[in-house]
Amino acid sequence: MRFNTLIIVTPLQYKDWRARSIKLSFYDYWLELENIPVYRGNFIEDVYTLQLGDWPRLGGRGAYLSLANQQVTNGYVVEISPGADLKPERHLFEKITYVLSGNGATQVWQDGGKRLTFEWQAGSFFAIPLNAHHQHFNGSGSQPARLMAATTAPEALNQYHNLDFVFNNPFVFKDRFDPEQSDFFTAEGHSWGTRSWETNFVADVRSFELEAWEAKGAGARHMRFVMADSVYGCHIHELSPVTYVQAHRHAAGAMILVLSGSGYEIMYMKDGPRQRFELKPGAIISPGTGMYHLHANPNAEPLRQIAFRGGGFSLYGAGVGGPEAHMSELVPYDQEDPAVHEEFYAECRSRGLEPVLMPIKQGPG
Ligand SMILES: [Fe+2]
Repeated sequence: MRFNTLIIVTPLQYKDWRARSIKLSFYDYWLELENIPVYRGNFIEDVYTLQLGDWPRLGGRGAYLSLANQQVTNGYVVEISPGADLKPERHLFEKITYVLSGNGATQVWQDGGKRLTFEWQAGSFFAIPLNAHHQHFNGSGSQPARLMAATTAPEALNQYHNLDFVFNNPFVFKDRFDPEQSDFFTAEGHSWGTRSWETNFVADVRSFELEAWEAKGAGARHMRFVMADSVYGCHIHELSPVTYVQAHRHAAGAMILVLSGSGYEIMYMKDGPRQRFELKPGAIISPGTGMYHLHANPNAEPLRQIAFRGGGFSLYGAGVGGPEAHMSELVPYDQEDPAVHEEFYAECRSRGLEPVLMPIKQGPG
């Protein structure tokens, strides 16, 4: 079996980081050591075609998504060559993985325990239990497999600033994952109540049944996920045709990937210029702290997104502050710059579609 390399910072490297640490977090220093491309900012145009680099530690080719100028969550994209596998790893941070393309299998195990194996294909979504060993295999001899992961690595690395502790820690979280539960990754899951689902594996999030959430817009549909006892919150949100989610803001940390449909995103800081980004499958938006953002679907098809939200137990709201803070940050339609909905109405009509008109006076509902 091949093992990870580069998982210990040498005393000389540690000295180097300490000398620079007034301006460089341990997490960002680790990104330098990983020596693969790092994407920053608030928008990724297309994660399917993102340029990757050889990744000595993990095998395969990869790139980090270190978006929205924050040190809480991050992501990465990794591609496994046809017929190949990645090196096994374990780590003291949460990780949720979405399969962008290809098919394959993952093995997960605890020290001395049996290995559970589950298979995945494009659209699958699963969580790796905290500090469990895991290894990914490409199931195709002719096609690469491309995965996207969302993690809490920045928090863990900055907190302990010791790679040996984070990546070689023998502690076993038996309460989170017992390999004797052989259907851990294959059980269907169960509802946790309104718009919440507990599971460790979803075969295809692109067709997962969602529940109505009219407060988020006419015809909006939604589902939150609780996975592997993780504290990494995530959800799927679907905008129905010719609607938008009104502008809101919250703490940074979320990465929102477009699964299907298309549209556009408006992002801006208070009193700052509005920036527009085009949304299509594979686009990722990641608003910064306090950055207003608005998802718009001026098309005849639904726009489905998966939000790797991070922060807080999965049933609760985005980032710091929980759902109440999240909702209180909504911009009521009657306080919105009329240019925002005029632009949206014009986009719909240019496609020959009649938009759902936004209520003149209404809060979040
Ligand atoms: Fe948001």
